[in-house]
Amino acid sequence: MATSEIPNFYKFAPKDRIKIVKTFSNLEEKDVEHVISAAGLSIEAADHMIENVIGTIPVPLGIATNFLVNSKDYLVPMAIEEPSVVAAASNAAKMARKHGGFRTSNTGPVMIGQIQTVRVLDPHRARLDILSRKDELLKKANEQDPKLVSVGGGAKDLEVKVIDTARGQMVITELIVDCRDAMGANAVNTMAEAIAPMIESISHGKVLLRIISNLATHRLVRSAATFDREALGGEEVVDGILDAYAFADSDPYRCATHNKGIMNGIIAVALATGQDTRALEAGAHSYAARSGRYRSLTTYEKDTDGNLVGTIELPVAVGLIGGASAVHPVAKSCVRILGVKSAIELAEVIASVGLAQNLAALRALASEGIQRGHMKLHARNVAASAGATGELVEKVAQHMVSERKIRFDRAQELIGELSTAE
Ligand code: MEV
Repeated sequence: MATSEIPNFYKFAPKDRIKIVKTFSNLEEKDVEHVISAAGLSIEAADHMIENVIGTIPVPLGIATNFLVNSKDYLVPMAIEEPSVVAAASNAAKMARKHGGFRTSNTGPVMIGQIQTVRVLDPHRARLDILSRKDELLKKANEQDPKLVSVGGGAKDLEVKVIDTARGQMVITELIVDCRDAMGANAVNTMAEAIAPMIESISHGKVLLRIISNLATHRLVRSAATFDREALGGEEVVDGILDAYAFADSDPYRCATHNKGIMNGIIAVALATGQDTRALEAGAHSYAARSGRYRSLTTYEKDTDGNLVGTIELPVAVGLIGGASAVHPVAKSCVRILGVKSAIELAEVIASVGLAQNLAALRALASEGIQRGHMKLHARNVAASAGATGELVEKVAQHMVSERKIRFDRAQELIGELSTAE
């Protein structure tokens, strides 16, 4: 098995990087073509995916190196417009390798479908009556998706709660569905709609909403890693990261940004592999607030040798069948680059990237600050937008960084000066 630790990967040209990825992931030529083509999604295919299509919008696709998750090496595709994210994830993954990389676990690919019943005269009686008909209701739900049932998934359980709302008490029936390798929204919504008439007749109320919940507390993924103390920069940096984590976990203003950094990694992999990124965001942030206080999705502590032990736990509702990951040519190739065989394996890599991303951000923030790394890449963007091409991009960017003047007008001047100097 090839290693994902590829020294100086960033120094290669894109065409050489894709060759390395092709060999590592055993890709076919068509995967390479999809990935390198800015028009990886044809207008015809796009027109089948959403309404009123007029075009597509490409986003840079990078590869994070060094990821070792449950002793398996991964090259991780990340689609994102923000500089530094891919490099930061790769660096953090490298710091975890020395101590065995990331170790993960999960609660299974299980989603919740909610059925809201209003205007029930005796909601607590209705709750018990619905529960007493559980087997029939599950049978009806499972009749909607024999394929899912045949692979071991389907509706497995049913829970009912009575909630107090501004519009009085409501009976909420929750269908617990094992979605296997699908994200599951379609399967769950279809099942919820199918059992709604039965719920209505049992409760003598009126069923309104029948929809999946993105607070997927039965689809949790966990990942842990030990980040090497020396690689992090020593004890002071480790303590700084612990202080930064404590700040986030106690203050929602900081925590929003802390968790946003986690989502930089999670959403980049999700976008590359064709997932519903909004569902992941909704699940992550609502899970972070589940105690009534908005808290960190990660934790950090020191081990006996002073290394930093990081963990992450959050819902990761992703699928490999039935969604864009099954039809978008670039997403399909990204799944092949990752080499994941199940939705759970994908979810575990995604959670590990989230942890790596967070660790990298905290380390930068607690030491040199985030701007130095950002500025180098920002300078390249400014140079390119001012008209620099080829090697001139790097030269103009380096000049601006050394002068600490990263501005469009300065980039234009430098393009003039440096191109005549050649
Ligand atoms: C920037 O996209 C993400 C960070 O702000 C995350 C953080 O502050 O932890 C660097």
